[in-house]
Amino acid sequence: MPRHLVTIRDVAQRAGVSTSTVSHVLNGTRFVSPELTERVRQAMIELRYQPNAVARSLRRRETLTLGMVVPDNANPFFAMMARAVEDTCYRQGYSLILTNSEGDLTRELTNINVLVAKQVDGLILAAVGLGSRELQRVLRQVPTVVVDRELSGIAADTLLVDNLDGGYQATRHLIALGHRRIGCITGPSVTTPSAERVTGYRRALNEAGLPYDELLVVRGDFQFAGGYAGAQALLALPEPPTAIFACNDLMAVGAIAAAAALGRRVPDDLSVVGFDDTILAAYITPALTTVAQPIADIGRLATEMVLQRIQAPTDPPVRRVLPTRLVIRQSTHPLPAS
Ligand code: RIB
Repeated sequence: MPRHLVTIRDVAQRAGVSTSTVSHVLNGTRFVSPELTERVRQAMIELRYQPNAVARSLRRRETLTLGMVVPDNANPFFAMMARAVEDTCYRQGYSLILTNSEGDLTRELTNINVLVAKQVDGLILAAVGLGSRELQRVLRQVPTVVVDRELSGIAADTLLVDNLDGGYQATRHLIALGHRRIGCITGPSVTTPSAERVTGYRRALNEAGLPYDELLVVRGDFQFAGGYAGAQALLALPEPPTAIFACNDLMAVGAIAAAAALGRRVPDDLSVVGFDDTILAAYITPALTTVAQPIADIGRLATEMVLQRIQAPTDPPVRRVLPTRLVIRQSTHPLPAS
């Protein structure tokens, strides 16, 4: 009768500790009390556990490693999210492999295939935003949580934020300050977050009885340069806006730089609102009014969700939407009395 292949979970159960404690004893990655260490070692002896990572991964596809694909980890939003993921992995005795898609579907698929080949136990995907049959096929091979962008036609756990309410709150704030011509710099059109934020922008205008003027909506790219160029275009209009809602913080910072280059003061001549509330927002001058995403919670929850998915692969997909919150700082100002 082939002997039951002993796993890290068997050792943890025998010792009465978590799998992360066994992993920390095995890898020396964290202090474990002498008493718990002894219990773990005793359990390994009794079970004749072979602490061989390669053997273990061959036996059980258990590498205690997660993979993550994001569009751009140079963007503080994704960097802060990845940090929260890695912190949670460490606490659970897992490692993380982080890759970038650069917003390119081919690179996204290549990275996912590489991570699957490396036998990651689970995947956290901040998707480019385009579902595809190839992506559907690949994602069936590995427990996955899709974060930030929604993928149509793909039955995977999904963790989002309320982008529509965020765009609505940002625009309603500017309207409450007296602004009537409010520009919007969007993100990449393929991403659901950008489209939902613009829907919130339009809802607030409509609610206030203000017309939607498509000349006031310009395409951006979630990068500094896209915000800079978008603000240049808006401020060059015959009737320029007195406020701009940028669909992420990087573009809001770019817009502020463009306004300065044109001799426009923020917020005296132009109010600017961003989206994300990354580490930049509170420290630039003027400090940025923005819509806060719970970035650390997104990273922690996404990791917990994928670890749960590994344990229960056949449970129905889970979809969670976290709230966003307007944070008012110095970059927005009442419209001067005309
Ligand atoms: O800043 C990067 C943007 O891309 C964020 O707003 C995030 O929601 C993602 O969609």
